[in-house]
Amino acid sequence: MPSGLFTELKEKIQSRQSKVAVIGLGYVGLPLALLYIDQKFPVTGFDIDRRKVDTLNQGGSYIYRIETTDIKHALSCGFTATAEYSRLTEMDAVIICVPTPLNDYHEPDLSYITATAAAIAPNLRAGQLVVLESTTYPGTTEDVLIPILEKKNRGGLKAARGGESTGHEFFVAFSPEREDPGNTTVARRDIPKVVGGLDPQAAELAAALYGSIFNRVVRVSSPAAAEMTKLLENIYRCVNIALVNELKLLCLRMGLDIWEIIDAASTKPFGFHPFYPGPGLGGHCIPVDPFYLSWKAKEYDFRTKFIELAGEVNVAMPYHVIAAVIHALNQRKKALNGARVLVLGVAYKKDIDDLRESPALTIIELLQKEGATVSYNDPYFPFIGHGRKYDLQMKCTDLSNLAQYDCVLIVTDHSDYDYQQIVQQSQLVVDTRNATKGIQSENIVRC
Ligand SMILES: NC(=O)c1ccc[n+]([C@@H]2O[C@H](COP(=O)([O-])OP(=O)(O)OC[C@H]3O[C@@H](n4cnc5c(N)ncnc54)[C@H](O)[C@@H]3O)[C@@H](O)[C@H]2O)c1
Repeated sequence: MPSGLFTELKEKIQSRQSKVAVIGLGYVGLPLALLYIDQKFPVTGFDIDRRKVDTLNQGGSYIYRIETTDIKHALSCGFTATAEYSRLTEMDAVIICVPTPLNDYHEPDLSYITATAAAIAPNLRAGQLVVLESTTYPGTTEDVLIPILEKKNRGGLKAARGGESTGHEFFVAFSPEREDPGNTTVARRDIPKVVGGLDPQAAELAAALYGSIFNRVVRVSSPAAAEMTKLLENIYRCVNIALVNELKLLCLRMGLDIWEIIDAASTKPFGFHPFYPGPGLGGHCIPVDPFYLSWKAKEYDFRTKFIELAGEVNVAMPYHVIAAVIHALNQRKKALNGARVLVLGVAYKKDIDDLRESPALTIIELLQKEGATVSYNDPYFPFIGHGRKYDLQMKCTDLSNLAQYDCVLIVTDHSDYDYQQIVQQSQLVVDTRNATKGIQSENIVRC
């Protein structure tokens, strides 16, 4: 027998009257908030970064692919951003999209989730739905999030676990974000949304909530199953990228072109999905998420060997790039020490404005350590300051005098670049992405 709290919330969701809170207005949370606004839900965004809150409330944007017109439209539909957690009490559904990085010891850093849970708890109300979207290891929702919500709320509220309604329950689910930044071929709402509820009512509510903005909702049996689904997807990518990275190294030794081979293999209509080699992994997901599982696996006396091996191969790729630059310069009777190197593209992948974990950062640091004078160009980054693991303080240079560089190193193959022209004007181009495909020149070294 469904509880009154359940029925009330379900009706509110179906009539688009449920107030949606999105906590963490970054690359995941802000676009999600906009999707709910498009579907006429009343939406409030929460973030502890007051600069983001102010920017949004003034109609500005800090994410390249989100136009200020989208934010202004959102504001005209009633959207506001706030850093005041007390406003959560007014909300019906609370979706958490905060970061889940690794700490310095390569272990899960759940501090953003625990801080968010601790901030939500005193404002929790019976009948609310709380959904975690942040990528994390199986068990986080049940073993980390819910205990904090239950312990620190003021009304003795408990997460609904399928028993009789007490009138003091809230609903909890996990639903991973599966966005592919920069992918313009699949609309966000066409990416099926996986949902795992703590009990059937939570699953039903989360499915209704996401069913309002996504074309398909895929229900799994528990939050942990949904957490694991996301990790499987990212580990699959991580391991396959490592595989092609390793095969690329072999192909280079054998004088074969891995890109030609991947293209040919991709013509098989079944059983093969192409992955592409590169200068190393980047982004908030693929280099990070697999290690959430390796860490958790140790609790079960289990070693995730594929993940660790893939990590080893992928982490070595920037070093391979440096070796390739040294070799290419050596062929031209030059040393890397003292050479002028232009790094082309610093985002972790093409056509996006995200620098997190980008291999370009490691490559720049390694080049500098070897004594090179390094410049960079990236249309998405006028300046590179400092982050958790780097402090570069570099300004984007223009492409007006490419001949001055001993080496132009293509790290990110943004579509905006005219590669033909770059090759023509440069003394040497080292290409880590096959961006110069089809261009014939002795100045190109593909690595
Ligand atoms: N970026 C992606 O493409 C992507 C794709 C799939 C999954 N994910 C996952 O989604 C989650 C969020 O990633 P993101 O890329 O949006 O991160 P992000 O860093 O862009 O955004 C996170 C936001 O959360 C805010 N925040 C941190 N602590 C907070 C708190 N206690 N209360 C309120 N706000 C807080 C930050 O200020 C920031 O604005 C991560 O777990 C990530 O692994 C990201």
